[in-house]
Amino acid sequence: MTHQDASGGDPVRLLAGCARRVEAALDNALATSALAGEHARPERLVAAMRHAALGGGKRLRPGLVLASARLFGRDDAGVILAGAALECIHCYSLVHDDLPAMDDDDMRRGRPTVHKAYDEATAILAGDALLTLAFDLIADPAVHASASVRLEASRELARAAGHGGMAGGQMLDLASEHRDRSEQEVRLLQAMKTGALIRYAARTGARLADATEADLERMTRFGEIIGLAFQLADDLLDVEGDAVRLGKAAGKDADAGKATLVALKGTAETRAELEGLVAEAEALLAPFGERSLELVALARFVADRDS
Ligand code: IPE
Ligand code: IPE
Ligand code: MG
Ligand code: MG
Ligand code: MG
Repeated sequence: MTHQDASGGDPVRLLAGCARRVEAALDNALATSALAGEHARPERLVAAMRHAALGGGKRLRPGLVLASARLFGRDDAGVILAGAALECIHCYSLVHDDLPAMDDDDMRRGRPTVHKAYDEATAILAGDALLTLAFDLIADPAVHASASVRLEASRELARAAGHGGMAGGQMLDLASEHRDRSEQEVRLLQAMKTGALIRYAARTGARLADATEADLERMTRFGEIIGLAFQLADDLLDVEGDAVRLGKAAGKDADAGKATLVALKGTAETRAELEGLVAEAEALLAPFGERSLELVALARFVADRDS
């Protein structure tokens, strides 16, 4: 066990350190040379995948995997690989989310979206290939010595990302445009489209560090709270944020008739709920004492972020 990039509880430092390590892992995974079992890696496809996965992004999900693993004493290249796997799924979800058939966005992470920099067909394939790459990375023996733990991490990743998780949430999101939705329906949509991957991050870091079943449950609940907080902040930023700072368009949800809690309850009430969620997350980790500082700081960062 090594402890690199000790952040001293500073979430910006934690995320920056994690981002460097995750990007190195992604850079390596996205080389142009074919691996055993592959035929060849078309240059244009690899370039589009690299555009999607490298050079930008807060790397919050890998940051959560790492901080959650560190809480239980693990910090090494295998944890970073698991974070990179999750980030591949996240990046694929963004590439597809930005397509004309979905949110139709031109800017992401301060750069043209993949379908703008390349073309729609290439963007669809880059998303497909990033999704697939995630399962290659999570299966790496470095992720955990036990094959059954890796298998469980892999199955949970599939369920977090698939039709009962993120992709299912994206379906509900699209189906809810310009439709009246109850608060309960919006909460389910958000728990799926955004919450599922964040819940997975908190849970999997703990699992990879061999946390007890009780601690795994606590971290799962922490992930659920942070997942909701994350989407509330995203929706608030769409209303109040600045496109340059965000690196993506702002002010689009209302026009697109998106079903959000901000649309339903207004910004003041959403902000109050966000504060409550951070307090809840903090209370949940209180039993870990000082060791939880890093995760508590991350929770606060999720709520207070401006990008
Ligand atoms: C944006 O996610 C999409 C949502 C799930 C709301 P992030 O805000 O984590 O995007 P990056 O990775 O930092 O660009
Ligand atoms: C996207 O939600 C969620 C996923 C990509 C799964 P949004 O559509 O609100 O994300 P942004 O605002 O475009 O980043
Ligand atoms: Mg969307
Ligand atoms: Mg979008
Ligand atoms: Mg948004």
